[in-house]
Amino acid sequence: MVDLTTKFLGLTLRNPLIVGSSGLTDSVEKIKEIEQAGAGAVVLKSLFEEEIISEMEEAMHRMTSRQFIYPETFDYMDEEEEEDSVRKYLWLIKEAKDAVHIPVIASVNCVTSQKWTYFAKEIENAGADALELNLFILPTDFERTAEDNEKLYFRIVEEVQKLVKIPLLLKISYYASNLGQLIQKLSETGIKGITLFNRFFSPDFNLETYQVVSTNVLSKPADLPISLRWVAVMADRVKCDLAASTGVHDGEAMIKLILAGANVVQVVSALYKHGLKLIPQMLDEMTRWMEHEGYNSPDAFRGKMSQARSSNPASYERVQFMKNFRHFIFE
Ligand SMILES: Cc1cc2nc3c(=O)[nH]c(=O)nc-3n(C[C@H](O)[C@H](O)[C@H](O)COP(=O)(O)O)c2cc1C
Repeated sequence: MVDLTTKFLGLTLRNPLIVGSSGLTDSVEKIKEIEQAGAGAVVLKSLFEEEIISEMEEAMHRMTSRQFIYPETFDYMDEEEEEDSVRKYLWLIKEAKDAVHIPVIASVNCVTSQKWTYFAKEIENAGADALELNLFILPTDFERTAEDNEKLYFRIVEEVQKLVKIPLLLKISYYASNLGQLIQKLSETGIKGITLFNRFFSPDFNLETYQVVSTNVLSKPADLPISLRWVAVMADRVKCDLAASTGVHDGEAMIKLILAGANVVQVVSALYKHGLKLIPQMLDEMTRWMEHEGYNSPDAFRGKMSQARSSNPASYERVQFMKNFRHFIFE
């Protein structure tokens, strides 16, 4: 008998499928539907909501894109507007907690360390089961060293940890000079989990207007290998749970990431594309595969294909096509 119950961040989830932070999780009604569809947990839309982003964009225009990524950016926000969005967000947490039984994980985007802590405390008081810190520093500031950038991650974690007791989940990107070591060190800070990885606005050019526009807002199944590689590489080397995010579009992808060592997967783009009906389909696909393979719980196969347990660990570090694909022909 297959049981998909999964431990994550010390919480008990009915299965390892989490609906990730996005517009899919920004209202109580949507969260109720997600619970009904069968998801194990939900990460709320980040407190740095899209509406705030767009309201901020005018101010952002006056700034360089380089400044955009720093916490000081938030000083450009109108205080009232900020208060309002904060209040709405806390209300969302409270209402969601009253309405559903699945864990509700709040999410905060990049703010100054002082505001981080303030939001985190309020979020905890509102009843969130955990908090995902969505941290991202695009390394394009030529005045800052890699060390400067990485220190900021640790400083923010430290500040938030001082104030909250709920489990912290850190969502990061793969833009780091020594990613493996950074993930490992972050996992040793006392946080309960790391999400690998976030997905960001990708620029493209409009050749008629000469404007920069966004492209590839939604991921594709072909985006899976980056999270698959890094979950597999980090699985036995971290002191916290791992959530996989990016490119999870079907049950197979979920199985692969758990085989790599993920505790849970987060799904967003595939749900935008196919709707919430995909949730039971993915869970069904995993259940059938587990029955076929004789596994009765995700724990029974979690990490079976991590790099540390692999019979061919070098395959995770192969980055050149040279030898294997010398005679590759595209048909
Ligand atoms: C429309 C949209 C909105 C998103 N908003 C957020 C957000 O507010 N906070 C966040 O941490 N991630 C946000 N994400 C990133 C997703 O949570 C997720 O990490 C990313 O899309 C990769 O997963 P996927 O391949 O399943 O889409 C957003 C993604 C999309 C497509």
